[in-house]
Parts: sequence; structure tokens; C-alpha cells
Amino acid sequence: MEQGFFRSPKKRGRVAVLLSGRGSNFRAIHDAMLAGKINADIVLVFSNKADAPGLQTARERGLETLHLDPKAFPGREAYDAAIVEELKKREVDLVCLAGYMKIITPPFCQAFRNRIMNIHPALLPSFPGLHAQKQAVDYGVRYSGATVHFVWEEVDAGPIILQAVVPVHQDDTEETLADRILEWEHQIYPEAVRLYFEGRLEVRGRRVYILD
Ligand code: GRF
Repeated sequence: MEQGFFRSPKKRGRVAVLLSGRGSNFRAIHDAMLAGKINADIVLVFSNKADAPGLQTARERGLETLHLDPKAFPGREAYDAAIVEELKKREVDLVCLAGYMKIITPPFCQAFRNRIMNIHPALLPSFPGLHAQKQAVDYGVRYSGATVHFVWEEVDAGPIILQAVVPVHQDDTEETLADRILEWEHQIYPEAVRLYFEGRLEVRGRRVYILD
């Protein structure tokens, strides 16, 4: 297990969002910035998918967007190295994965140690990986939820920043549970980014402390 100490910076932050799909978490984070709740700006919205609806939204909102085609690179590490270069060029402080459907390679994680966040639609460490809401329904848990966490090399296993608990109803389907969880995702993801740039997140070992 990784040890160490990190305190998030108190500054006006430069954020990059990486997404592959509709981008509702991206919109929630951006809306909170526009409302003045987060001391940061989105300087790049990146996607591995040229036709991601989230990219289109970003363009409509006047944000810089970038698409790189994974197939144009010899492998995952080369692809991630190109992304890291683009992020460094823009002096990005924090990378928010928001429905980004590619696994981040270890060199990418290391280049942005404690500077990558992800949101997962379950209460980690329960139901990691794909289709977390279906996993929760199929398992029969009474509660699931959402988790914002830092990204470490191991998938869905970095230090947990915030969680929201969401009840699972007897007649829930994957879709109805996903909708209920999503409402909470849109609360806790912007909140985690806000705390980050208020300099209030401290990582000790794998525990995150929220400072007053
Ligand atoms: C969300 O459920 C998120 O938890 C998961 O992927 C989905 C992305 O949705 N990682 P959106 O693109 O932000 O609307």
C-alpha cells in the first residue's frame, strides 16, 4: 500500500475534465464554477471519443476541447503520454475523470499523483468496475451510492474523498437506481473539487482528511 502525505493547494485552480459520454458530471462541476462555488476554471475538456455528447456541450459552453484517437497510438502508454503532455502544456492542476471509460496507465497516475479524481456510482470498495448500479441491484443491497476518490494505479481503489449513501428500492432496475445515484454524483463531485482548491484535502496514507 502506498504511504505518504499530501495537502491540496489553496489557489485558483486549472482543471481538465476527461470524459467519454454524456458529461452530466462535467456539467455539474462547470455549473458550480460558473456559480462561483469553486475557485477554479476548466481549461480543457478531453475525450477519447470524437462524438462524446459531453465534448459538444463543452464547445457550446465555449471551453477548449480536445479529442485524441487511441487507435492512432501504438499503445495505452503512448496514448496517455500524449494526454499528459497536453495537460502539462496547459498547466493543469487537477484532472477530473467524469465518465472516462479508459483505464489510466501508471505513468499517467504518477505524473499527476494526488491530482486526479474520479467518480464511481457505488460505495467503494463495493462494486468496482463496470455496471456498478447493476451489480448493486443484482446483489440485493439495501443501500448503494456514489464515491469521489483520488486515482491511484489500481482501478477504483484510490483514497476516498466523499461518499453519498443512496437507498436501493425493491423495484429498482439498473436505470432507476442509476438516476437516483446520479443526482448525488452531481452534488458530491463539485463539492470535492471545491474542497480541493480551498486547500482542505489532506491525504495521509490512504485516508483523506477534510480540514476545517
Ligand atoms: C457516472 O455514473 C459516473 O459515476 C460514471 O460514469 C457515469 C458518467 O456519467 N463514472 P456522465 O457522463 O457524467 O453523465
